[in-house]
Amino acid sequence: MPGAARADDGTATQVRGGEPAVLMSGIRKSFGGVPVLRGVDFDLARGEVHALAGGNGAGKSTLMKVLQGVHPADEGTIAVDGRRVEISSIHDARAAGIGMVFQEFSLVPSLTVAQNIFLGAEPLRRSRLIDDRAAVAAAGAVLEEMGVDVDPRAVVGDLSTAYRQLTEIAKALAQDARVLIMDEPTASLARQESEALFALIRRLAARGIAVVYISHRMEEVYRIADRITVLRDGTRLLTRPLSEITPEQIVEGIVGKALDGQPVHRQVDGAGLGAVLLQAHAVHAPPKVRDVSFTLHAGEVIGLAGLMGSGRSELARALFGIDEVTSGEISVRGRRADLSSPRKAIAAGLALIPEDRREQGLVLEHSVADNLLLPVLGELRRGPLLHARRARERSADLIRRFAVKVADPARPVSLLSGGNQQKVVLAKWMGTDPDVLILDEPTAGIDIGTKNEIVTMIRTLAAAGKGVIVISSEYPELLAVSDRVLIIRDGTIAGEYSREQIADEEFLELAVQGATS
Ligand SMILES: Nc1ncnc2c1ncn2[C@@H]1O[C@H](COP(=O)(O)OP(=O)(O)OP(=O)(O)O)[C@@H](O)[C@H]1O
Ligand SMILES: [Mg+2]
Repeated sequence: MPGAARADDGTATQVRGGEPAVLMSGIRKSFGGVPVLRGVDFDLARGEVHALAGGNGAGKSTLMKVLQGVHPADEGTIAVDGRRVEISSIHDARAAGIGMVFQEFSLVPSLTVAQNIFLGAEPLRRSRLIDDRAAVAAAGAVLEEMGVDVDPRAVVGDLSTAYRQLTEIAKALAQDARVLIMDEPTASLARQESEALFALIRRLAARGIAVVYISHRMEEVYRIADRITVLRDGTRLLTRPLSEITPEQIVEGIVGKALDGQPVHRQVDGAGLGAVLLQAHAVHAPPKVRDVSFTLHAGEVIGLAGLMGSGRSELARALFGIDEVTSGEISVRGRRADLSSPRKAIAAGLALIPEDRREQGLVLEHSVADNLLLPVLGELRRGPLLHARRARERSADLIRRFAVKVADPARPVSLLSGGNQQKVVLAKWMGTDPDVLILDEPTAGIDIGTKNEIVTMIRTLAAAGKGVIVISSEYPELLAVSDRVLIIRDGTIAGEYSREQIADEEFLELAVQGATS
């Protein structure tokens, strides 16, 4: 019966008229002869939140870019509200009511939040300047509905990654989308922001908006989504209501084999605290970081926990010489060190893997192999030439260890999927053998199959006598890697706990909120 709720096929909401909001059938897409989507079917009911999962490079973003008109399909059909549509440009998609929050940010850094939100949404015939005051007011309204505290007049380039992400979401909402595609929207959000986003998504779904939610976080998928589709290597493995599938089954579908659950904290053999590697004494780096003192030993992993905007990333940047340290002292191996630039920090044995990796960690137009080898070129040099065989072996080894999905290492890194680009940055820096490694959200965007692997790699580095500082908003991960956790609040250390003192995630959550002190 048309119009009835169809709980039996997993559609969690009323489907008015029985027509799916979106029906994609037999979608095929190749890039340069390499098939990325091999005949994918995907349907989206009105008012449903539909999770899209799969390993890095499985084709999730590409499938949604087909729907968004960024990469028109080679074959297959798309129907919106039961009517067949041709989507061959972003303009077509927008006309069909489809909005997307891009995994790779599409914002213009030099413009304000309000200008970005309405960028390109202006009808073409109005070629005059956008009414700034109206834009600020309208953007303010959208942001307020989202429960986000951002000044619409702020310049996007000055915002943190998380706030840029929220601006990106506001932009899609402001365009009145009836179908909203979110590609890993929480990858860089702290808990509170994620909560606000989830509440927002539920409100949108209740209004009949269909949401596609791409995520590598299983816990989120169960909280927010009604159904899930799993892609593997460009084919659809399954579509199922979440009430009818276990997390283990999903993970097995994504990875192709069973995994032993969440990462756990393991003391690696031979581990133990060694000499002092890094010591910060009363470090100030305005505007955020103030009076930070701590000691990192060889063989130790320190986790930094804190809310978004607490100054965790800024502390990392100050230690690595990106932001200026105005007073205080940093010493490396007991000697006062000059870490006033990243180059000097690298020379002193530090490495930082930044949160905003695409921007800061990669040369996008260079090949995967070149990016991987960039920090170790010196070692691979033979006179004026590069030791070609060793270079090849080295990049092949990193690609294998980090499970980077790439057809040919000579391809530009820009053509890799988002998660595979993240893996290249991680592999690049972890391959340089630094004494002190600082990782800012190391598993953001990384698929489930590789996440545990990265936790293990960090523990192994520590066991080999390195010192590691990890910033992570994912508490299970932070608890799995850290020997000690520093709570960062208002740019300073507000608490310190050894791993044994932290009973569980809830304890950590309370500590971050400031409820235990
Ligand atoms: N413009 C392009 N040119 C060539 N290859 C591409 C292009 N875009 C994507 N690909 C390839 O298509 C495959 C699927 O990429 P896609 O971005 O859809 O993966 P994904 O499932 O979103 O992965 P992730 O979880 O890492 O974001 C990857 O192997 C990627 O290298
Ligand atoms: Mg993707």
